[in-house]
Amino acid sequence: MTMPTSQCPWRMQVHHIQQETPDVWTLSLLCHDHYPYRAGQYALVSIRNTADTLRAYTLSSTPGVSEYITLTVRRIDDGKGSEWLTREVKRGDYLWLSDAQGEFTCDDKPDDKMLLLAAGCGVTPVMSMRRWLAKYRPDTDVQVIFSVRSPEDVIFADEWRQYPLTLVAEHHAAHGFVAGRLSASILESVPDLAQRTVMTCGPAPYMDWVEENVKALGVTRFYKEQFFTPVAEAATSGLKITTLQPAKAFYAPVGTTLLEALESNHVAVNAACRAGVCGCCKTRVVSGEYRVTSTMTLSEEEQQQGYVLACSCHPQSDLVLA
Ligand code: FES
Repeated sequence: MTMPTSQCPWRMQVHHIQQETPDVWTLSLLCHDHYPYRAGQYALVSIRNTADTLRAYTLSSTPGVSEYITLTVRRIDDGKGSEWLTREVKRGDYLWLSDAQGEFTCDDKPDDKMLLLAAGCGVTPVMSMRRWLAKYRPDTDVQVIFSVRSPEDVIFADEWRQYPLTLVAEHHAAHGFVAGRLSASILESVPDLAQRTVMTCGPAPYMDWVEENVKALGVTRFYKEQFFTPVAEAATSGLKITTLQPAKAFYAPVGTTLLEALESNHVAVNAACRAGVCGCCKTRVVSGEYRVTSTMTLSEEEQQQGYVLACSCHPQSDLVLA
């Protein structure tokens, strides 16, 4: 019997596990209490049921529609969370999840025309929302464009047959697929594109491309899943950040978070929620000025000792980190 942690108080039992594609599995979970969530949100999962390793996964199921709570997980080589969830966790095991989190949801967007764009594993919140729209807003005109590497990588392939869908495959495009990558001409073929609310989820460069191109085509209501934060180029000027372990110095442009500065300079730091909720990115500042937007998981004592949540810390001067 494992125990809850403060971040992950929801105990769920694995009912079954289904392989979706060569490297993606869906874990169907039973929660004996009512677990409130919205279509498109994610939860933190306590990896190996310990408090110190949390990973964020989209809830690929749909409230009020799906029989189980589901997590759809791509196995990443040496990924602490995905290796455990897709290789070791078995039917009957227990997982601990956080409250559902995130703003990438469609229930607050009352438009009658939508375009949902997904690439790879970014389809998980899109399927969650597609089911929700079918059940609760059946009159909404929903177009979906899903980009994959090759036809075998279509996650939820069977379920997609019930919804209108454009599939784009970069390699080995078979019948029913548009060959290549998402292009401006594919976007232009979407009826009434400029009148649609557009939501996208996938790798950061893909979402950036979508944003630039749909806005160029007149879209004004655009949303992307911020959970997949891009790793920016390392800055060459700005505030100086010095880390003592490893000994390193680099720059953080004014306005960025400490987490962005660390990641763009390849300093190892855990991050799951990126929103000041999970506590993964706890870091100690030895000297310098900074502003914080969340201290949710830190005690008073830790804050006095200079601990911050890197994702919620904005450097205001040069900083030295422990
Ligand atoms: S990544 Fe979760 S608190 Fe910073």
